[in-house]
Amino acid sequence: MNRSVLIREYIQSTFVQESDAHKKILSASHKEGLPQIQVPSSVGKLLYLITKLQNPKRILEIGTLAGYSTEWLRQAAPDAELITIEPNPLHAKLAREHHPTLTIIEEDALLTLKRFSENQTSFDLIFLDANKQAYSQYLPLLLSISKPGTLILTDNLIPREEEINNPDPKDPFATSVYAFNQNLASDPRLETILIPTIIGSNGRLDALGLSIVK
Ligand SMILES: C[S@@+](CC[C@H](N)C(=O)[O-])C[C@H]1O[C@@H](n2cnc3c(N)ncnc32)[C@H](O)[C@@H]1O
Repeated sequence: MNRSVLIREYIQSTFVQESDAHKKILSASHKEGLPQIQVPSSVGKLLYLITKLQNPKRILEIGTLAGYSTEWLRQAAPDAELITIEPNPLHAKLAREHHPTLTIIEEDALLTLKRFSENQTSFDLIFLDANKQAYSQYLPLLLSISKPGTLILTDNLIPREEEINNPDPKDPFATSVYAFNQNLASDPRLETILIPTIIGSNGRLDALGLSIVK
């Protein structure tokens, strides 16, 4: 095991306790053959603590998968209204089995965000963990459904490439993520930092974006 995997193992074994609900979601997701791309438990715990600090009344998650990160958000704010968006029918079905009382909207997040924006719906915390290529398109809509103090958390803001902030122009994934980072950094309505995270079986360094709406 390399050093970052060992550090993550240490953090997880010392500071993270997954509940039975977390374990059930992971095992069902594995059994159904879903991609194992949920946040690692260390990032789940980070989301949980940030959510507890924020004490949100309304939470929006974009990219549910089987509802693993949803469970961290739910446990951190059990009384909050939590809406999660997942267009993949199999992912949404599995998430519904584990979160029967939550609102799981089964459609492309762009459509939901446009509707929320038109209806002037607002959220105290938004967790973005979906199709990275659309993030810059989402950003104005996310701001329109935020208010001063809303937290926007975004997973996976350092793409897999070796060269930081110098993506291959033919790689739409990496170019969109760095363009999104630039948008976060330059938007006068936001204060943002990236928190490094350790992900995947090889312990790659990635980052969780934390933005506060002014
Ligand atoms: C990385 S996974 C989410 C993991 C989840 N947040 C967790 O940690 O347990 C990304 C999810 O985004 C969903 N997704 C893809 N395109 C989307 C879109 N246009 N709108 C909303 N979700 C989308 C995928 O189907 C997938 O389930």
